[in-house]
Amino acid sequence: MPTTVQVNLGDRSYPIHIGMDIPLAKSVLDRQGNRALVVTDANVEQLHGEALRRKLKDSGLDCVKAVVPAGENSKSLETAQRLYQQAALNGIERSHVVVALGGGMIGDLAGYVAATYQRGIRLLQIPTTLLAMVDSSVGGKTGVNLEQGKNLVGAFHQPVEVDVDLRLLQTLPQREYVSGLAEVIKYGIIWDAEFFALLEQHADAILTRDPALLERIVARCCEIKAEVVAMDEREIGPRAILNFGHTLGHAMEKIDGYGRWLHGEAVSIGMRFSACLSARVKGLPNSDADRIVNLLERVGLPVVFGNERELAWDSVWKVMQTDKKTFRRRPRFVLVEKLGAALTGCDVPDELLAESWHVCCK
Ligand code: GLY
Repeated sequence: MPTTVQVNLGDRSYPIHIGMDIPLAKSVLDRQGNRALVVTDANVEQLHGEALRRKLKDSGLDCVKAVVPAGENSKSLETAQRLYQQAALNGIERSHVVVALGGGMIGDLAGYVAATYQRGIRLLQIPTTLLAMVDSSVGGKTGVNLEQGKNLVGAFHQPVEVDVDLRLLQTLPQREYVSGLAEVIKYGIIWDAEFFALLEQHADAILTRDPALLERIVARCCEIKAEVVAMDEREIGPRAILNFGHTLGHAMEKIDGYGRWLHGEAVSIGMRFSACLSARVKGLPNSDADRIVNLLERVGLPVVFGNERELAWDSVWKVMQTDKKTFRRRPRFVLVEKLGAALTGCDVPDELLAESWHVCCK
């Protein structure tokens, strides 16, 4: 039996269905106007495009196929414009739906198209990576990149349903799968110490992608994300805890060029850095900081750069100061007092940042 997690946002509430071979688009099909622009990338198209569109068609959804090149470069206004035109040429109307079939890039791009085409039409998320399943497909953040930075243009636009078909994980390359585990571990660190302990206990089975365990883990991550988003949909306050490890992680991605580090890999090093800061300024017991580093390493995530990926502190510091989430031009950090208890908006003295960088990350 699939698991269903509800995101409670009043009239914008929606279900997340999680399981193996789950029915698709249930909420979409309850209503009139069963036509969809199904947006995917060339990689997902090759592996799953045909089969999933057939499944959507069998449930009564008339599908217009829209395939964009794989990779972060497609998350642009130019690609969005091509999708608007494709939607218009194929008679996609306000009562219809955009289906985001892919990882985080596709969810953000197709979500932004759904948020803006004809002033907003319905969005169905079918995430195909672990990272998208536990994070980006839930919560309504959509957007595209500009030359000047990531996600600088976007909108909050909640999906009407998220369908997490865990079978899609079986074809995910190991490096991508492990990268997604960084966000899974993040939920344990910021919100649920028991969940963190469960991840420690089952680290080996997680790496074998055990289906029953995956359903339990993905469902717990979605429950936590749903709870946080229901508290603070537009990230005025507490939703920022989801950015644990991301201040440094985003800076690394920006300096090194997107693609060199997978998002979860950069966040993993960022979480190690934040654990180190938390132990220094928020009293996180050293034993808990060690547990964080050990779990990241056990699942195969990087916690230091290594010599071949040397990064200079000065350049990291400069980029962190231009992050969209700075306050009075100073980077802010999410830190933890203990496992499961996070604090947002933490300012850390410059010398401590530099020292922690040199001690923990190199
Ligand atoms: N990925 C962070 C958020 O959805 O707020």
